[in-house]
Amino acid sequence: MRGAVLGLGMIGRHHARLLQSTPQVSFAGAVDPAGDIHGAVANPALVFSSVAELLASGPVDFAIVAVPTEEHVAAVREVTAAGASVLVEKPIAASAAAGRELIAIVEAAGVHGAVGHVERCNPALIELRERVNDDQLGELFLIATERVGPFPDRIRDVGVVKDLATHDLDLVRWLGGAPIASLSGQTQNRMGRPHEDLVLISGALTSGVSFNSIVDWLSPTKVRRTRVLGERGMLVADTLTADLTFYENGAVGSEWGATQSLRGVSEGDVTRYAIARREPLRVQLDRFLDLLGGSADSQVVTLAEGLETLASAEAVLESAASGARPHRTPRASDACCRRCARQDRPASCRADRAQWPYRRGM
Ligand SMILES: NC(=O)c1ccc[n+]([C@@H]2O[C@H](COP(=O)([O-])OP(=O)(O)OC[C@H]3O[C@@H](n4cnc5c(N)ncnc54)[C@H](O)[C@@H]3O)[C@@H](O)[C@H]2O)c1
Repeated sequence: MRGAVLGLGMIGRHHARLLQSTPQVSFAGAVDPAGDIHGAVANPALVFSSVAELLASGPVDFAIVAVPTEEHVAAVREVTAAGASVLVEKPIAASAAAGRELIAIVEAAGVHGAVGHVERCNPALIELRERVNDDQLGELFLIATERVGPFPDRIRDVGVVKDLATHDLDLVRWLGGAPIASLSGQTQNRMGRPHEDLVLISGALTSGVSFNSIVDWLSPTKVRRTRVLGERGMLVADTLTADLTFYENGAVGSEWGATQSLRGVSEGDVTRYAIARREPLRVQLDRFLDLLGGSADSQVVTLAEGLETLASAEAVLESAASGARPHRTPRASDACCRRCARQDRPASCRADRAQWPYRRGM
Protein backbone atom coordinates (compact mmCIF):
# COMPACT_ATOMS: atom_id res chain seq x y z
CA MET A 1 0.00 0.00 0.00
CA ARG A 2 1.73 3.23 -1.15
CA GLY A 3 0.83 6.19 1.03
CA ALA A 4 1.71 9.88 0.85
CA VAL A 5 1.18 12.92 3.03
CA LEU A 6 0.12 16.34 1.76
CA GLY A 7 1.39 19.11 4.04
CA LEU A 8 4.43 18.74 6.29
CA GLY A 9 3.34 21.16 9.01
CA MET A 10 2.62 20.59 12.70
CA ILE A 11 0.46 17.53 12.14
CA GLY A 12 1.65 16.42 8.69
CA ARG A 13 5.18 15.80 9.98
CA HIS A 14 3.79 13.21 12.42
CA HIS A 15 1.81 11.51 9.67
CA ALA A 16 5.02 11.42 7.61
CA ARG A 17 6.90 9.81 10.52
CA LEU A 18 4.24 7.14 10.88
CA LEU A 19 3.98 6.42 7.16
CA GLN A 20 7.76 5.88 7.08
CA SER A 21 7.71 3.51 10.05
CA THR A 22 4.58 1.43 9.44
CA PRO A 23 5.46 -1.95 7.91
CA GLN A 24 2.25 -2.27 5.86
CA VAL A 25 2.94 1.07 4.16
CA SER A 26 5.40 1.94 1.45
CA PHE A 27 6.09 5.67 1.79
CA ALA A 28 5.35 7.32 -1.57
CA GLY A 29 6.49 10.76 -0.43
CA ALA A 30 5.28 14.08 0.93
CA VAL A 31 4.10 17.25 -0.78
CA ASP A 32 4.71 20.68 0.66
CA PRO A 33 5.52 23.80 -1.36
CA ALA A 34 7.41 25.11 1.68
CA GLY A 35 9.59 21.98 1.80
CA ASP A 36 10.34 19.76 4.77
CA ILE A 37 10.94 22.47 7.39
CA HIS A 38 10.59 20.03 10.31
CA GLY A 39 12.95 17.43 8.85
CA ALA A 40 10.23 14.79 8.85
CA VAL A 41 11.21 12.88 5.72
CA ALA A 42 14.35 10.74 5.86
CA ASN A 43 14.89 10.66 2.07
CA PRO A 44 14.88 14.23 0.66
CA ALA A 45 14.11 12.81 -2.80
CA LEU A 46 10.64 11.98 -1.48
CA VAL A 47 9.73 15.60 -0.72
CA PHE A 48 7.77 17.14 -3.60
CA SER A 49 6.54 20.66 -4.11
CA SER A 50 3.31 19.65 -5.89
CA VAL A 51 0.88 16.74 -6.12
CA ALA A 52 1.67 16.47 -9.85
CA GLU A 53 5.36 15.82 -9.00
CA LEU A 54 4.39 13.22 -6.40
CA LEU A 55 2.11 11.40 -8.85
CA ALA A 56 4.77 11.52 -11.56
CA SER A 57 7.10 9.59 -9.23
CA GLY A 58 4.75 6.60 -9.00
CA PRO A 59 1.23 5.47 -8.09
CA VAL A 60 -0.32 6.45 -4.76
CA ASP A 61 -2.95 4.28 -3.05
CA PHE A 62 -3.82 6.80 -0.38
CA ALA A 63 -2.92 10.27 0.84
CA ILE A 64 -3.22 11.87 4.24
CA VAL A 65 -4.40 15.43 3.68
CA ALA A 66 -2.78 17.71 6.25
CA VAL A 67 -2.79 21.02 4.42
CA PRO A 68 -4.48 24.12 5.92
CA THR A 69 -8.23 23.54 6.30
CA GLU A 70 -9.21 25.96 3.52
CA GLU A 71 -7.13 23.91 1.07
CA HIS A 72 -8.60 20.48 1.87
CA VAL A 73 -11.04 20.44 -1.05
CA ALA A 74 -8.45 21.35 -3.70
CA ALA A 75 -5.95 18.81 -2.34
CA VAL A 76 -8.56 16.06 -2.19
CA ARG A 77 -9.68 16.83 -5.75
CA GLU A 78 -6.11 16.44 -7.05
CA VAL A 79 -5.23 13.16 -5.38
CA THR A 80 -8.58 11.41 -5.75
CA ALA A 81 -8.51 12.19 -9.48
CA ALA A 82 -5.48 9.88 -9.55
CA GLY A 83 -7.42 7.14 -7.74
CA ALA A 84 -5.99 7.71 -4.24
CA SER A 85 -8.13 7.28 -1.13
CA VAL A 86 -7.93 10.08 1.43
CA LEU A 87 -7.65 10.48 5.17
CA VAL A 88 -8.51 14.17 5.59
CA GLU A 89 -7.43 16.04 8.70
CA LYS A 90 -10.19 17.53 10.80
CA PRO A 91 -12.20 19.65 10.32
CA ILE A 92 -13.26 18.07 7.04
CA ALA A 93 -13.26 21.50 5.36
CA ALA A 94 -13.54 25.20 6.15
CA SER A 95 -17.34 25.26 5.65
CA ALA A 96 -20.16 22.74 5.49
CA ALA A 97 -20.68 23.68 1.83
CA ALA A 98 -17.02 22.87 1.12
CA GLY A 99 -17.40 19.65 3.13
CA ARG A 100 -20.30 18.56 0.94
CA GLU A 101 -18.22 19.37 -2.14
CA LEU A 102 -15.35 17.27 -0.77
CA ILE A 103 -17.66 14.30 -0.18
CA ALA A 104 -19.06 14.57 -3.71
CA ILE A 105 -15.50 14.56 -5.11
CA VAL A 106 -14.56 11.42 -3.15
CA GLU A 107 -17.76 9.62 -4.13
CA ALA A 108 -17.34 10.53 -7.80
CA ALA A 109 -13.78 9.18 -7.72
CA GLY A 110 -15.00 5.92 -6.18
CA VAL A 111 -12.28 5.92 -3.50
CA HIS A 112 -12.34 5.64 0.29
CA GLY A 113 -12.43 8.68 2.56
CA ALA A 114 -12.24 9.31 6.30
CA VAL A 115 -11.70 12.28 8.62
CA GLY A 116 -8.89 12.56 11.18
CA HIS A 117 -10.90 13.14 14.36
CA VAL A 118 -7.98 11.64 16.22
CA GLU A 119 -9.43 12.11 19.71
CA ARG A 120 -11.52 9.00 19.06
CA CYS A 121 -8.21 7.15 19.05
CA ASN A 122 -7.04 8.51 22.41
CA PRO A 123 -6.60 5.53 24.76
CA ALA A 124 -8.26 7.31 27.70
CA LEU A 125 -11.34 8.14 25.63
CA ILE A 126 -11.53 4.67 24.08
CA GLU A 127 -11.49 3.18 27.59
CA LEU A 128 -13.98 5.77 28.87
CA ARG A 129 -16.42 4.98 26.06
CA GLU A 130 -16.15 1.23 26.64
CA ARG A 131 -16.94 1.74 30.31
CA VAL A 132 -19.91 3.99 29.48
CA ASN A 133 -21.18 1.37 27.00
CA ASP A 134 -20.74 -1.32 29.68
CA ASP A 135 -23.13 0.75 31.83
CA GLN A 136 -20.56 1.58 34.52
CA LEU A 137 -22.16 5.00 35.06
CA GLY A 138 -25.78 3.89 34.69
CA GLU A 139 -27.95 6.58 33.19
CA LEU A 140 -25.90 9.43 31.72
CA PHE A 141 -26.56 13.02 32.78
CA LEU A 142 -23.82 15.17 31.31
CA ILE A 143 -20.79 15.16 29.02
CA ALA A 144 -18.51 18.13 29.69
CA THR A 145 -15.34 18.89 27.78
CA GLU A 146 -12.62 21.44 28.35
CA ARG A 147 -10.04 22.17 25.65
CA VAL A 148 -8.13 25.33 26.45
CA GLY A 149 -4.60 26.61 25.99
CA PRO A 150 -2.40 29.18 24.28
CA PHE A 151 -2.89 30.17 20.63
CA PRO A 152 -0.87 28.17 18.07
CA ASP A 153 0.17 31.07 15.85
CA ARG A 154 0.05 29.05 12.61
CA ILE A 155 -3.78 28.79 12.42
CA ARG A 156 -4.97 31.54 10.06
CA ASP A 157 -7.99 30.26 8.17
CA VAL A 158 -10.55 29.34 10.85
CA GLY A 159 -11.43 30.25 14.43
CA VAL A 160 -11.37 28.15 17.57
CA VAL A 161 -14.86 26.73 16.91
CA LYS A 162 -13.93 25.01 13.66
CA ASP A 163 -10.32 24.31 14.53
CA LEU A 164 -10.66 22.95 18.09
CA ALA A 165 -14.30 22.68 19.15
CA THR A 166 -14.94 20.29 16.25
CA HIS A 167 -13.05 17.75 18.41
CA ASP A 168 -15.63 18.26 21.15
CA LEU A 169 -18.67 18.33 18.88
CA ASP A 170 -17.53 14.99 17.48
CA LEU A 171 -16.71 13.54 20.92
CA VAL A 172 -19.98 14.34 22.65
CA ARG A 173 -21.93 12.42 19.99
CA TRP A 174 -19.47 9.54 19.92
CA LEU A 175 -19.34 9.19 23.71
CA GLY A 176 -23.05 9.77 24.23
CA GLY A 177 -24.06 7.46 21.38
CA ALA A 178 -26.66 9.88 20.01
CA PRO A 179 -26.81 12.86 17.64
CA ILE A 180 -26.90 16.45 18.84
CA ALA A 181 -30.50 17.65 19.23
CA SER A 182 -29.88 21.28 20.14
CA LEU A 183 -27.04 23.59 20.99
CA SER A 184 -26.15 27.19 21.61
CA GLY A 185 -22.88 29.02 21.69
CA GLN A 186 -21.24 32.17 22.96
CA THR A 187 -17.97 33.34 21.47
CA GLN A 188 -15.40 35.98 22.29
CA ASN A 189 -12.72 37.55 20.15
CA ARG A 190 -9.98 38.88 22.42
CA MET A 191 -6.88 38.63 20.21
CA GLY A 192 -8.19 40.85 17.43
CA ARG A 193 -7.87 38.15 14.76
CA PRO A 194 -10.69 37.84 12.20
CA HIS A 195 -12.06 34.79 14.01
CA GLU A 196 -13.26 33.97 17.53
CA ASP A 197 -10.78 32.69 20.11
CA LEU A 198 -13.08 31.48 22.88
CA VAL A 199 -16.33 29.56 22.80
CA LEU A 200 -18.78 28.21 25.33
CA ILE A 201 -21.14 25.59 23.95
CA SER A 202 -24.08 24.01 25.69
CA GLY A 203 -26.55 21.59 24.26
CA ALA A 204 -28.33 18.28 24.45
CA LEU A 205 -28.18 14.98 22.59
CA THR A 206 -31.35 13.40 21.24
CA SER A 207 -31.07 10.92 24.12
CA GLY A 208 -31.58 13.80 26.55
CA VAL A 209 -27.97 13.83 27.79
CA SER A 210 -26.75 17.40 28.31
CA PHE A 211 -23.34 18.53 27.15
CA ASN A 212 -21.14 21.56 27.41
CA SER A 213 -17.74 22.50 26.08
CA ILE A 214 -15.37 25.30 26.88
CA VAL A 215 -12.74 25.82 24.25
CA ASP A 216 -10.23 28.63 23.90
CA TRP A 217 -6.88 29.83 22.66
CA LEU A 218 -6.54 32.31 25.51
CA SER A 219 -5.54 30.19 28.50
CA PRO A 220 -1.92 30.22 29.66
CA THR A 221 -1.90 26.45 30.18
CA LYS A 222 -3.12 23.54 28.10
CA VAL A 223 -6.06 21.53 29.46
CA ARG A 224 -7.77 18.65 27.66
CA ARG A 225 -10.42 17.15 29.88
CA THR A 226 -13.56 15.14 29.19
CA ARG A 227 -15.97 14.38 32.00
CA VAL A 228 -18.94 12.04 31.76
CA LEU A 229 -21.36 12.20 34.67
CA GLY A 230 -23.97 9.56 35.34
CA GLU A 231 -26.14 8.17 38.08
CA ARG A 232 -23.34 6.05 39.60
CA GLY A 233 -20.47 8.50 39.38
CA MET A 234 -18.17 10.28 36.97
CA LEU A 235 -15.43 9.23 34.55
CA VAL A 236 -12.78 11.86 33.79
CA ALA A 237 -10.33 11.52 30.89
CA ASP A 238 -7.25 13.69 30.55
CA THR A 239 -6.36 13.31 26.90
CA LEU A 240 -2.97 15.02 27.23
CA THR A 241 -1.69 12.33 29.58
CA ALA A 242 -4.19 9.62 28.49
CA ASP A 243 -5.30 9.13 32.10
CA LEU A 244 -8.75 7.92 33.05
CA THR A 245 -10.18 8.25 36.56
CA PHE A 246 -13.45 7.00 37.99
CA TYR A 247 -15.07 8.96 40.84
CA GLU A 248 -17.65 6.64 42.25
CA ASN A 249 -20.69 7.89 44.13
CA GLY A 250 -20.47 7.09 47.82
CA ALA A 251 -22.74 4.30 49.04
CA VAL A 252 -24.31 6.31 51.86
CA GLY A 253 -27.43 4.76 53.25
CA SER A 254 -29.95 6.43 55.48
CA GLU A 255 -31.93 4.65 58.16
CA TRP A 256 -34.13 7.69 58.56
CA GLY A 257 -36.75 7.32 55.83
CA ALA A 258 -37.86 10.95 55.99
CA THR A 259 -34.45 12.10 54.74
CA GLN A 260 -34.34 9.75 51.74
CA SER A 261 -35.73 12.33 49.34
CA LEU A 262 -33.07 14.83 50.40
CA ARG A 263 -30.17 12.45 49.96
CA GLY A 264 -27.59 13.62 47.48
CA VAL A 265 -24.41 12.23 46.01
CA SER A 266 -21.46 11.79 48.31
CA GLU A 267 -17.83 11.06 47.52
CA GLY A 268 -16.98 7.41 47.10
CA ASP A 269 -13.93 5.50 45.89
CA VAL A 270 -11.61 7.04 43.34
CA THR A 271 -9.92 4.70 40.85
CA ARG A 272 -7.29 5.64 38.32
CA TYR A 273 -7.10 3.00 35.62
CA ALA A 274 -3.87 1.65 34.19
CA ILE A 275 -4.46 1.67 30.45
CA ALA A 276 -2.29 0.62 27.54
CA ARG A 277 -1.20 3.75 25.69
CA ARG A 278 -0.86 3.64 21.92
CA GLU A 279 -0.14 6.79 19.91
CA PRO A 280 -3.56 8.03 18.71
CA LEU A 281 -2.31 8.96 15.21
CA ARG A 282 -0.95 5.42 14.86
CA VAL A 283 -4.28 3.92 15.91
CA GLN A 284 -6.03 6.21 13.43
CA LEU A 285 -3.70 5.09 10.63
CA ASP A 286 -4.31 1.41 11.48
CA ARG A 287 -8.06 1.97 11.31
CA PHE A 288 -7.74 3.74 7.96
CA LEU A 289 -5.60 0.88 6.63
CA ASP A 290 -8.33 -1.51 7.82
CA LEU A 291 -10.83 0.48 5.76
CA LEU A 292 -8.58 0.30 2.70
CA GLY A 293 -8.14 -3.42 3.32
CA GLY A 294 -11.90 -3.89 3.01
CA SER A 295 -12.90 -4.11 6.67
CA ALA A 296 -16.56 -3.32 7.19
CA ASP A 297 -15.86 -2.39 10.81
CA SER A 298 -12.79 -0.18 10.51
CA GLN A 299 -13.93 2.39 13.12
CA VAL A 300 -12.79 5.32 10.98
CA VAL A 301 -14.67 8.60 11.30
CA THR A 302 -16.65 8.77 8.08
CA LEU A 303 -16.80 11.81 5.83
CA ALA A 304 -20.52 12.09 6.64
CA GLU A 305 -19.70 12.23 10.37
CA GLY A 306 -17.03 14.85 9.71
CA LEU A 307 -19.60 16.92 7.84
CA GLU A 308 -22.17 16.55 10.63
CA THR A 309 -19.59 17.84 13.10
CA LEU A 310 -18.76 20.81 10.90
CA ALA A 311 -22.45 21.61 10.49
CA SER A 312 -22.74 21.62 14.29
CA ALA A 313 -19.76 23.99 14.47
CA GLU A 314 -21.51 26.33 12.06
CA ALA A 315 -24.66 26.13 14.20
CA VAL A 316 -22.57 27.22 17.19
CA LEU A 317 -21.25 30.20 15.25
CA GLU A 318 -24.75 31.13 14.05
CA SER A 319 -26.07 30.92 17.59
CA ALA A 320 -23.25 33.15 18.82
CA ALA A 321 -23.72 35.64 15.98
CA SER A 322 -27.48 35.85 16.52
CA GLY A 323 -26.70 37.46 19.85
CA ALA A 324 -28.86 35.06 21.79
CA ARG A 325 -27.44 35.41 25.26
CA PRO A 326 -28.53 33.73 28.45
CA HIS A 327 -30.65 35.94 30.68
CA ARG A 328 -28.53 38.10 32.87
CA THR A 329 -29.08 37.45 36.52
CA PRO A 330 -29.63 40.73 38.40
CA ARG A 331 -26.91 41.62 40.87
CA ALA A 332 -27.47 43.32 44.19
CA SER A 333 -25.81 46.44 42.80
CA ASP A 334 -28.46 46.58 40.05
CA ALA A 335 -31.34 46.49 42.46
CA CYS A 336 -33.83 49.24 43.07
CA CYS A 337 -33.61 48.47 46.73
CA ARG A 338 -32.86 45.51 48.91
CA ARG A 339 -36.52 44.69 49.29
CA CYS A 340 -37.61 44.29 45.70
CA ALA A 341 -34.21 43.54 44.06
CA ARG A 342 -35.36 44.92 40.72
CA GLN A 343 -33.53 47.29 38.43
CA ASP A 344 -36.59 49.42 37.64
CA ARG A 345 -38.52 50.75 40.56
CA PRO A 346 -41.85 48.98 40.40
CA ALA A 347 -45.02 50.62 41.64
CA SER A 348 -45.22 47.99 44.33
CA CYS A 349 -41.88 49.03 45.80
CA ARG A 350 -42.42 50.54 49.19
CA ALA A 351 -38.79 51.27 49.86
CA ASP A 352 -38.04 54.60 51.34
CA ARG A 353 -36.05 56.94 49.08
CA ALA A 354 -33.35 56.81 51.70
CA GLN A 355 -32.72 53.27 50.65
CA TRP A 356 -32.08 54.20 47.02
CA PRO A 357 -28.30 54.19 47.32
CA TYR A 358 -28.76 50.51 46.58
CA ARG A 359 -29.77 51.45 43.05
CA ARG A 360 -27.26 50.99 40.30
CA GLY A 361 -25.04 53.99 39.71
CA MET A 362 -25.70 55.67 43.03
N1 LIG B 1 -6.17 16.06 14.32
C1 LIG B 1 -5.61 17.00 15.01
O1 LIG B 1 -5.55 16.96 16.25
C2 LIG B 1 -4.98 18.16 14.28
C3 LIG B 1 -3.95 18.88 14.88
C4 LIG B 1 -3.38 19.92 14.17
C5 LIG B 1 -3.87 20.24 12.91
N2 LIG B 1 -4.90 19.53 12.37
C6 LIG B 1 -5.42 19.88 11.04
O2 LIG B 1 -4.42 19.59 10.08
C7 LIG B 1 -4.42 20.57 9.06
C8 LIG B 1 -3.05 21.22 9.02
O3 LIG B 1 -2.81 21.87 10.24
P1 LIG B 1 -1.33 22.18 10.77
O4 LIG B 1 -1.48 22.65 12.15
O5 LIG B 1 -0.42 21.01 10.51
O6 LIG B 1 -0.97 23.38 9.82
P2 LIG B 1 0.48 23.94 9.46
O7 LIG B 1 0.26 25.32 8.99
O8 LIG B 1 1.45 23.67 10.56
O9 LIG B 1 0.91 23.02 8.22
C9 LIG B 1 0.30 23.06 6.96
C10 LIG B 1 1.36 22.71 5.92
O10 LIG B 1 0.73 22.54 4.67
C11 LIG B 1 1.57 23.13 3.66
N3 LIG B 1 0.73 23.40 2.50
C12 LIG B 1 -0.04 24.50 2.25
N4 LIG B 1 -0.69 24.32 1.08
C13 LIG B 1 -0.33 23.10 0.59
C14 LIG B 1 -0.68 22.34 -0.55
N5 LIG B 1 -1.55 22.81 -1.45
N6 LIG B 1 -0.11 21.13 -0.72
C15 LIG B 1 0.75 20.62 0.17
N7 LIG B 1 1.12 21.29 1.30
C16 LIG B 1 0.58 22.51 1.50
C17 LIG B 1 2.15 24.35 4.32
O11 LIG B 1 3.34 24.77 3.69
C18 LIG B 1 2.40 23.84 5.75
O12 LIG B 1 3.70 23.27 5.88
C19 LIG B 1 -5.56 21.53 9.39
O13 LIG B 1 -6.73 21.10 8.73
C20 LIG B 1 -5.75 21.34 10.89
O14 LIG B 1 -7.06 21.62 11.32
C21 LIG B 1 -5.45 18.51 13.03
